[in-house]
Amino acid sequence: MSSYDDLLTRRSVRSFVPGKKISSEDMKKLLRAAMYAPSARNCQPWEFIVVDNDDVIREISGVHPYASFLKDAGQAVVVCGNLEEQYDKDYWTVDCAAAAENLLLACHSLGLGACWCGIYPNQERIEAFTRLFDLPAHIKPLALVVIGYPRLEARQPSDRFNETKVHYNKY
Ligand SMILES: Cc1cc2nc3c(=O)[nH]c(=O)nc-3n(C[C@H](O)[C@H](O)[C@H](O)COP(=O)(O)O)c2cc1C
Repeated sequence: MSSYDDLLTRRSVRSFVPGKKISSEDMKKLLRAAMYAPSARNCQPWEFIVVDNDDVIREISGVHPYASFLKDAGQAVVVCGNLEEQYDKDYWTVDCAAAAENLLLACHSLGLGACWCGIYPNQERIEAFTRLFDLPAHIKPLALVVIGYPRLEARQPSDRFNETKVHYNKY
């Protein structure tokens, strides 16, 4: 599969083979891909919390209302921003979103399934993850990326290309 096909066939996966953990080598590959994302002034203001412990997974399930599939998936990465390393105010959000997307694409290209579960900018979830992981004030959680072996073939949507969203030289 070409990397262009990978971009078009990536889908959020929410159904996983229960208990099938990914290898630490694959996790490292995924994290490396995340760290190759572009960032303003190449500041790379990200931090990644790998979660594979069942107790922690249970605790996350108690605070994130839309990530119930995490318990089957078996692992996740919490993508966080480091406010002390960002180029300027609020840049961490866009830089870390690029890293999270790289993570999703890397999962897909390794045959793994993944789903971005939103944390930022939902204040309640930011506070819950900050408490759960004891995050210092300069570390902000952006996304919970749930990762595992997909149980089903992802359904492909109809063509998302939408000509009305494209503007030439002016809006
Ligand atoms: C910021 C953000 C937050 C999201 N939060 C959730 C979530 O909490 N739970 C979930 O199941 N999917 C979540 N998603 C995944 C979207 O629902 C999904 O990307 C969208 O429906 C498009 O489907 P696709 O990823 O298969 O292309 C989130 C995606 C983004 C970018």
